[in-house]
Amino acid sequence: MLPLCSHSSAAVALAALISGTLAASFDGSRYLWYDTPGTQFDASLPIGNGRLGGTLYCLPTEIVTWNENSVWSGTFQDRVNPNALDAFPKVRDLLVNGNVTSAGELALSDMTGSSIDPRKYQVLSNLYVDLGQNGDATNLVRSLDTLEGYTACEYEFNGVSYTRELIASVPSGVLGFRIHANTSKAINLNAYLQRDRYVQSNNASVADGVNLIVMKATTGEVDYSTFTAAVRVVVDEGNVTAEGGKLYVTGATTVDFLLDAESSYRYGTDSDQEKELNRKLDAAAKLGYEALRKEAIADHKDLAGRVTIDLGASKDGAASLPTNERMTNYRSSPDDDVEFATLMFNYGRHLLITSSRDTSERSLPPGLQGIWNQEYDPSWGAKYTVNINLEMNYWPAETTNLNELTSPLWDLLALVQERGADVAERMYGCPGFVLHHNTDLWGDSVPVDNGTAYSVWPMGGAWLALHMMEHYRFTGDETFLRERAYPIFKSAFEFFECYLFELDGYLTTGPSCSPENVFWIPSEMTVAGQTEALTLSPTMDDSILFELLTALNETHQILKINDDLSATVQTYLGKIRPPQIGSEGQILEWIEDFAETDPAHRHFSPLFGLFPGTQLTPLVSTELANAAGILLDRRMNSGGGSTGWSRAWSISLYARLYRGDDAWNNVRAWIQTFLLTNLWNSDRGGSSVFQIDGNLGYTAAIPELLLQSHSGVVHLLPALPSAVPTGSVSGLVARGGFEVDIAWEKGALTKATVKSLLGNKLTLLLNGETSLYVNGEKYTGPVSTEKGKDYTITV
Ligand SMILES: *[C@@H]1O[C@H](CO)[C@@H](O)[C@H](O)[C@H]1NC(C)=O
Ligand SMILES: *[C@@H]1O[C@H](CO)[C@@H](O)[C@H](O)[C@H]1NC(C)=O
Ligand SMILES: *[C@@H]1O[C@H](CO)[C@@H](O)[C@H](O)[C@H]1NC(C)=O
Ligand SMILES: *[C@@H]1O[C@H](CO)[C@@H](O)[C@H](O)[C@H]1NC(C)=O
Ligand SMILES: *[C@@H]1O[C@H](CO)[C@@H](O)[C@H](O)[C@H]1NC(C)=O
Ligand SMILES: *[C@@H]1O[C@H](CO)[C@@H](O)[C@H](O)[C@H]1NC(C)=O
Repeated sequence: MLPLCSHSSAAVALAALISGTLAASFDGSRYLWYDTPGTQFDASLPIGNGRLGGTLYCLPTEIVTWNENSVWSGTFQDRVNPNALDAFPKVRDLLVNGNVTSAGELALSDMTGSSIDPRKYQVLSNLYVDLGQNGDATNLVRSLDTLEGYTACEYEFNGVSYTRELIASVPSGVLGFRIHANTSKAINLNAYLQRDRYVQSNNASVADGVNLIVMKATTGEVDYSTFTAAVRVVVDEGNVTAEGGKLYVTGATTVDFLLDAESSYRYGTDSDQEKELNRKLDAAAKLGYEALRKEAIADHKDLAGRVTIDLGASKDGAASLPTNERMTNYRSSPDDDVEFATLMFNYGRHLLITSSRDTSERSLPPGLQGIWNQEYDPSWGAKYTVNINLEMNYWPAETTNLNELTSPLWDLLALVQERGADVAERMYGCPGFVLHHNTDLWGDSVPVDNGTAYSVWPMGGAWLALHMMEHYRFTGDETFLRERAYPIFKSAFEFFECYLFELDGYLTTGPSCSPENVFWIPSEMTVAGQTEALTLSPTMDDSILFELLTALNETHQILKINDDLSATVQTYLGKIRPPQIGSEGQILEWIEDFAETDPAHRHFSPLFGLFPGTQLTPLVSTELANAAGILLDRRMNSGGGSTGWSRAWSISLYARLYRGDDAWNNVRAWIQTFLLTNLWNSDRGGSSVFQIDGNLGYTAAIPELLLQSHSGVVHLLPALPSAVPTGSVSGLVARGGFEVDIAWEKGALTKATVKSLLGNKLTLLLNGETSLYVNGEKYTGPVSTEKGKDYTITV
């Protein structure tokens, strides 16, 4: 199952490449590989260091498409609608009076932003490297190693073997690209930076042994940001000359490119940008490619290697075919290649490791396309959509042992809080902070776009804040809870304390919506028979509020805070509308049993309490869990899961209901329907746009099948699919600070090891049962654990 490459290292893979034993050499759970070049962006292979992203195609003229995560279309913009404060109570009154059509109209004209768009993520540049190799390369193989985090290719041309390799170093903050020939002095090339728009200068130079291309550009014509991008070229032998924007290399055996870019987001002036990138490039050049590669790989592997998963072996070499052939085969015979599901898990972690790192004071999280984007005007601005997508990006962070990768989210949340405080005051007349359904790198908190099914939804900040509570639950980091999380929780609550109003005895939100579904207006409301989405207290709002208040209540206990606020929070907890069950036994999506216009809707907003929340889970309430199952089945049976991220979400939802086989059907369907050539998730399948959320949502869903811990219990094998009878996982993390290894055979636990990271009490379940042994002794209830000790679980 782990053949030649299980002991890692490019050396093994490349040696295998050279000896021509390719098919057998790539571990199908770990590598993406192809025997043709990538001819389009979503076939190129992505690496990154959180801030810089790059992809490699292995084309005759190579292209490194690269990005810097703060190169966005503009600067801060104030989009608060000046009429909002006046309109807010009127819209609310119209909703209370059932005049939803007029409420929707007024919300759109007077509450959405004065311009509808926040800023957009933009491509940086393509590095072109023309090797003059026009004609067919032979024996071409390109690959991406999900464990070591680099991408490489190898081919022969005119009797010479060439390798190309693209790496990203977090410690050095640069990308590295090496071209090597096995024959001395065989490389002649020219290299240049290409960008279609807004280039101010683009010059190559050779001076004092430093070979450099520097491009300065902006991201628009007015109100833009600026950046400087540079490529340093280092050759072992051979000559380098410069002309215009190009560097020419002749007679080299190895050519190294070191890449960095810095923008006005972090370095205000051109000279500061240059200073910073020269500092990084000087240090990287001094280090040299080999050492840079070593540190890049060590860093990636330290994170990626924390979790190992084995979902069983594929049939008859199915996993050793090139990735694109496996994908074709998987569409017709998914059960022949279970290692493909494992690869997708490993690839998801690679994508999070390469796109979400603490890179500076102003680290940024991955957006809709992570950090990889080749457009000036990408779909949905490739920005931060927070009514599901940004949150989904972080679902795998804690459970798959990558908790430090969350820090860019906290940096963004700090910006959002600052901006959102101004917006809360000017739109709602409230203290605290508010965020609607999108933000950008300036923390823009104003409603985005202009539709009642998404724009006016004040829950984005509260949802993001919940990630901080989860971070504490997994790590036990009390300093984080006190210093970073608690102020955000308080600020989020202060907003709701002012904003919520009482209706039928419950604290109520509105105007709001259940992202992004629409209902038929019933006969007693205006205008009956039309559709609307704007409403009061949709179920998702109540679920998020419940979790926010629970987080605050828990924080008060942990930090031993006993004040007016802690008392108020407890009162509020009793006044949140509980989830309601509708006419078909389903969890209601809205405050009343409205008929949805789209029963197959891609958003599972009313099931927030099942996943990622807790309120609808079986250990909390079997009645609500059943009702959640009825709604989920109805969605899926009507054709739900229509986008990649939606399908990925459905896997976790079924897992939370302990329906492993239904979850696995959606694992299959997601892989069969939504993957692009390089295994990026797409919005709608086919050749639709890349969205990283589905990759990361999928990666979060696999652990939910094997380990759950959201209700105070470490639950082993809660939803094991029958298609995965035998396997193992190590390094998953459970709330309370437990690192968990599990092995199972024929659908039953053979052994689990729970390492106590914090010394907390360990409460256990195995597939719903408590008949198990801990260190050989019969389990009778919560076990006191000692920090650092392992506990062996058997049956
Ligand atoms: C709904 O509100 C609009 C605007 O205030 C008003 O003109 C209309 O008469 C209302 N409709 C009903 C049925 O109350
Ligand atoms: C949003 O739509 C409403 C009507 O549907 C319109 O009055 C308003 O001007 C729009 N806002 C923007 C910023 O385009
Ligand atoms: C370089 O690679 C080519 C093609 O594989 C091979 O024929 C040649 O012997 C190699 N040269 C050296 C010096 O290894
Ligand atoms: C630098 O690049 C700009 C734009 O690409 C060009 O106009 C200018 O002539 C170049 N300067 C030098 C010294 O080559
Ligand atoms: C490099 O340049 C030197 C000096 O101009 C020249 O003698 C030498 O032949 C060149 N080497 C190659 C490989 O082009
Ligand atoms: C809130 O915290 C208190 C202890 O401070 C606890 O007794 C109570 O059960 C908690 N309420 C909820 C709903 O979690």
